Amino acid sequence: MRRLLALAVGLLMPVTAARADAPMNYLASGGTQGGTVTPLLWASTTFSLFIIFAIALLVVIGSFRKRARGHEIPPAARHEAGLTWIAGGVAFTVVGLLVFMVWTVHDMAASASAPVEPQLTIEVRAHQWWWEFRYLDKDPSRIFTTANELHIPVGQPVRFRLVGTDVIHSFWLPQLGGKTDVIPGQTNTAWLEAKVRGVYRGQCAEYCGAQHAHMALLAYADAPADFVKWWAAQLQPAAAPATEEARTGASDFIARCGACHTLRGTAAGGRLGPDLSHLMSRSTLAAGTLPNTVAYLSGWISNPQTVKPDAQMPNLDLSAPELAAIRSYLLAQR
Ligand code: CUA
Repeated sequence: MRRLLALAVGLLMPVTAARADAPMNYLASGGTQGGTVTPLLWASTTFSLFIIFAIALLVVIGSFRKRARGHEIPPAARHEAGLTWIAGGVAFTVVGLLVFMVWTVHDMAASASAPVEPQLTIEVRAHQWWWEFRYLDKDPSRIFTTANELHIPVGQPVRFRLVGTDVIHSFWLPQLGGKTDVIPGQTNTAWLEAKVRGVYRGQCAEYCGAQHAHMALLAYADAPADFVKWWAAQLQPAAAPATEEARTGASDFIARCGACHTLRGTAAGGRLGPDLSHLMSRSTLAAGTLPNTVAYLSGWISNPQTVKPDAQMPNLDLSAPELAAIRSYLLAQR
């Protein structure tokens, strides 16, 4: 009985997983592409569950049914009674599968390209184990790079150019649309449109090494005016240090962190790790691994290998004053 219960719970998992607050709930959509596919997903899941339960029920009923004594069915008639069930079952399944085939082909065609030509293209570079986002623009002075958290205007389709840099990753924002692989030596494209304002959690969906699970991303779907403001703020150069400690931190940052990280408007121009310009405008650290608060920021800078073993960021053995200075400088980068 317990096993049966566990099986029933397992079968109902997809349904229970549909809680609205689950961050990667792909059964509820906030975007155009996801909105096209989600009804098909629900319908095919329901149809499949119905078939499983119906067959199980018929098998159970059949095995417990006792034939009344003295009323044995002659073999020929038995054969015919069975055939009706088989023909009925095959017809039901074939019609069901045909409906889902047509529906699937329709959805594939409908989600292949954006309803209108996207005005915005974001280049996504997948790294072990973080995301680089480059906002492209006809005007080169408006192009900038950020990491792990992207902003898009709500109600407008956005094109993504997916560029692989090391191994195969997969770009996936479950509530906005389908996943697309990011493959070294090849540029894939995808498009997404958020219909509802909010924050969408994404995840690398292709196993890419030790920290694959710690390769998340966030997409903020902003009101168009907020998006324009955010873009303008990102274009600002790094904030100048305002205190003595932050001034020390600025030179420490360039010396200790600048070979791998960029802080636009300073001598720190490394490309190995995430661009840290306006770091404090992000809500997470290390590709969605930690909340971006003072305590976590300290912990991450001083001991990244404990949080994310094998990540390219080494433990720098910073002294306590060095750590405090660098942290103080970074906290001003809003
Ligand atoms: Cu990148 Cu998994």
